[in-house]
Amino acid sequence: MRALDVAIDAAHKAGSLIRDRFGQPQQAEMKSPTEIVTQVDRDAEQIIVRTIQQAFPEHEFLGEEGHAPRQNAEHVWVVDPLDGTRNYTLGIPLFCVSIALTVRGRVVLGAIYDPQRDETFGACMGGGTHLDGVKVQGCASTRLDQAIVYAGFVPAQSPNNPELSMPMLVRLRPSIAAMRNLGSVALGLAYVACGRIDLAYQDRLSPWDMCAGALLVQEAGGVATDFAGQLISSSSNSIIAALNPDYHRVVLEIAQDVSRMRSPASHQVMTDVPQPGLE
Ligand code: IPD
Ligand code: CA
Ligand code: CA
Repeated sequence: MRALDVAIDAAHKAGSLIRDRFGQPQQAEMKSPTEIVTQVDRDAEQIIVRTIQQAFPEHEFLGEEGHAPRQNAEHVWVVDPLDGTRNYTLGIPLFCVSIALTVRGRVVLGAIYDPQRDETFGACMGGGTHLDGVKVQGCASTRLDQAIVYAGFVPAQSPNNPELSMPMLVRLRPSIAAMRNLGSVALGLAYVACGRIDLAYQDRLSPWDMCAGALLVQEAGGVATDFAGQLISSSSNSIIAALNPDYHRVVLEIAQDVSRMRSPASHQVMTDVPQPGLE
């Protein structure tokens, strides 16, 4: 069985459990001050890991719900068993399973499964992106003023960790048609890959949120990097993804500009400047 078939099989098995338990009362626990987790997240991760391990016993896992690879492991599966947990617990039918394979940190395969719509997105490096087995055409829109942009948000941050999403959106707003946030960034990236959304960006992510989606976008002919312009890898923590490279470039410039202005160093410089009327 090809690795992508194994990933899709694992995503379908986890997705089936997720779908079966959707709508039932979920005991949501806080795993950090801003993140929730349910038993469904944990059970789905177990199913994925077991399924992939049967086919690739030597491979290792970086899973949101606890699997961690050894340092320098060569083949690492990066797994978000349920992206959109908050939606899931609220009964909002927008969530997905996201699975990527990385080789020495580089993403070579991605699979995203939406159990509610029964849609499967898959890509292998060099093989294009497929939605339910049909190659997506990668038809990029060409007018930014008609573009739909997925802006991911993060909770309020400390001064040492300033928020970028909102100031970026403020800068972008006059140039785009509309903004979306599905509450599942992996699903948003899959939608960029198939042309439903024109661009997606978010910072303060984990690799499992975006490794698969980044490859889907790249293999559909688009561009996906982090806010520093680096290719998405198993250690990335932000993403800008679009089929149209011009959209990507515009948002990358805004991200870098906003990061510079919001960095603690620049904040320090600004507060060091003598304030008018305070001498
Ligand atoms: C979250 C979702 C959400 C994004 C958060 C992620 P989770 O993943 O993708 O849209 O804004 O940053 O952590 O916790 O539901 O897997
Ligand atoms: Ca996630
Ligand atoms: Ca998750």
